[in-house]
Amino acid sequence: MDTYAAIVLAAGKGTRMRSTLPKVLHQVAGLPLLAHVLNAIDSIPSTAAFAPLNSTTNSHRPIVVLGHEAKQVEDHFGTRSYYALQEEQLGTAHAVLAAENTVQELNPVPQTILVCYGDTPLISGQILARVLFEHITNQATLTFLTAITEPPSDFGRVVRNIHGNVLEIVEMKRATEEQKRINEVNSGVYCFDQSWLWPALHTLPQNASGEYYLTDLVAMASSQGCKITTVSGSLDETIGINDRVQLAAAERILRSRVLEQLMFAGVTILDPACTYIDAQVEIGSDTVILPGTMITGKTRIGSACRIGPGTTIDNSVLGEGCIVRNSVLEGSTLEDGVSIGPFSHCRPGAHLARNVRMGNFGEVKNSYIGAETDIHHFSYIGDATLGEHVNIGAGTITCNYDGVKKNHTTIGEGASIGSDTMLIAPVTVGEYAKTGAGSVVNRDVPPGAVVVGVPARILRTPQPSDGSTAENVVKE
Ligand code: UD1
Ligand code: MG
Repeated sequence: MDTYAAIVLAAGKGTRMRSTLPKVLHQVAGLPLLAHVLNAIDSIPSTAAFAPLNSTTNSHRPIVVLGHEAKQVEDHFGTRSYYALQEEQLGTAHAVLAAENTVQELNPVPQTILVCYGDTPLISGQILARVLFEHITNQATLTFLTAITEPPSDFGRVVRNIHGNVLEIVEMKRATEEQKRINEVNSGVYCFDQSWLWPALHTLPQNASGEYYLTDLVAMASSQGCKITTVSGSLDETIGINDRVQLAAAERILRSRVLEQLMFAGVTILDPACTYIDAQVEIGSDTVILPGTMITGKTRIGSACRIGPGTTIDNSVLGEGCIVRNSVLEGSTLEDGVSIGPFSHCRPGAHLARNVRMGNFGEVKNSYIGAETDIHHFSYIGDATLGEHVNIGAGTITCNYDGVKKNHTTIGEGASIGSDTMLIAPVTVGEYAKTGAGSVVNRDVPPGAVVVGVPARILRTPQPSDGSTAENVVKE
C-alpha cells in the first residue's frame, strides 16, 4: 500500500523578519504561520472523498524540521507533530535530510515524501492533495508545484527545455538575466519517491553559496532521466513569508478568504475592507458585522447577532440575537439576546446570562450576571454574582479590591441598586433589597430591606403583612 509522510521545513532563521520570535510563530489571521501549514496537511482530503488517493493513507503526524529557537516552536505545537532537529541551517536539502531518521522509524516506512515549507500559510489541503495525486498516478520520482508570476519576485525559476521538460530550478541569486525573465516559479511543495530521495540527498553537492538546496534535486533527477512532474497552482496559495511586508500581504489574502467563507455561509459583512476576523472564528448565519470590527481568537458568535461598529471581540462566546455596539469583549460569555454598549467592556470571566442589557461605559470582570439584569450606565462589576432581574443604577461600583486581595460581591434576584452605590466587598445584597442613591454598603443587606447613607443603614425591613417595596422612601 502507498503511504506518504509530510515533512515541513521550519528551521530557517528568518533573518529578514528581524525578530526574536521564530519566523513560523509569527501570526497571520490569528494563527502562527506553521499552524496554517499543519492545518492544510490535516485537511488533505480523506481517501474516501478522494478516490485516486485510495491507496494512500496519512497515518502519521507530520515531521517538522526545526533549528532556530526549536524549543519555542516545539512547546507551542507539542504532540501535534514529530520534530527533527537541523542543528546548522545549511539549506533546504540539508533540512530534509535532518528528517531522514524520523521517517525511517515510521511504520510502515512511507513510499512518498511530501515536503512543504513552514512559512507558506496560504497553502491548502486541496493543492497538497493535487501534488500527491499527480505524483502517485504518474509514478514520478519527483513532483513539484509551480505558479506563474510576473517579475520581480524572489522565487526559484523553473527552467524547461524546448519540449517543455523540466531541467532545473534556478534560484534568483544564481539566475542569468534570461532566466530571471522566466515567469514560472517554484512554489516550494514537493513529492519525492523516498527510495530515490535519501541517496540523492546524501550525494547532493554543496552549491556555490555553500548550501544544499532542495531545488538542486530537480537538476539531478533530470540529468538521471527520472520522471519529473509539475502541478501548476496559484501564486496566492504559496506565498512564502520572508519579511513583514510579505506577512502583511498574506494577512490581507487570508483575511479576505475568511470573510468570503463567512459571507457564503450567511453572515453579512457590511464593509469587508474594515473588518478583521481570525481564521478560527465561527459566526452563525444572519449575523451582521458592521465596520471597524475585529473578532479574534477562538470566538464563537451565534446567529442573528448585530456586531459593531467599532467593536473588538477576543476569545468570547456569544449566543443568538446578541447586539454589541462600540464595545470590547475579552474572554467573555454572552447568552442569547444580550445587548451590550455602546462603549462597554467585558473582561475575562464575564458571563452575561440571557437578555442582560448593559449600556454606556459599563465594565464587567469575572462576574456572573443573571438573566434580564440591567446595567445601563457607568458601572464597574468585578468578582460578583448577580441574580436575575437585578437593576444596577448609574455609577454603581463593586469595590472588590481592599489593597491586598479581591473580594466577592453577591446581589440577589430582583435587587435594585441605587445610583452611585459603592458596594464594599465582601458583601451580599439580599433578594429584592434596595440601596439608596449614594449609599456606601459595607455590611450585608438582608433580603427585601432598604438601606441608605454612608455607611448604609437599614431604613426599612419588609413587614410580614407589608407588600410595599418602599419606592417612596428611597429616591434614586
Ligand atoms: C525557497 C525555494 C525557492 C522557492 C521558494 C518558495 C530553495 C533553495 N528555494 O526559497 O525555489 O521559490 O522557497 O517559497 O528551497 N529552511 C530550513 N533549513 C534551512 C533553510 C531553510 O528548514 O537550512 C526552511 C525555512 O525555515 C523555510 C523554508 O525552508 O520555511 C524555505 O526556506 P527559505 O529560506 O524561506 O527559502 P526561499 O528563499 O523562500
Ligand atoms: Mg521562503
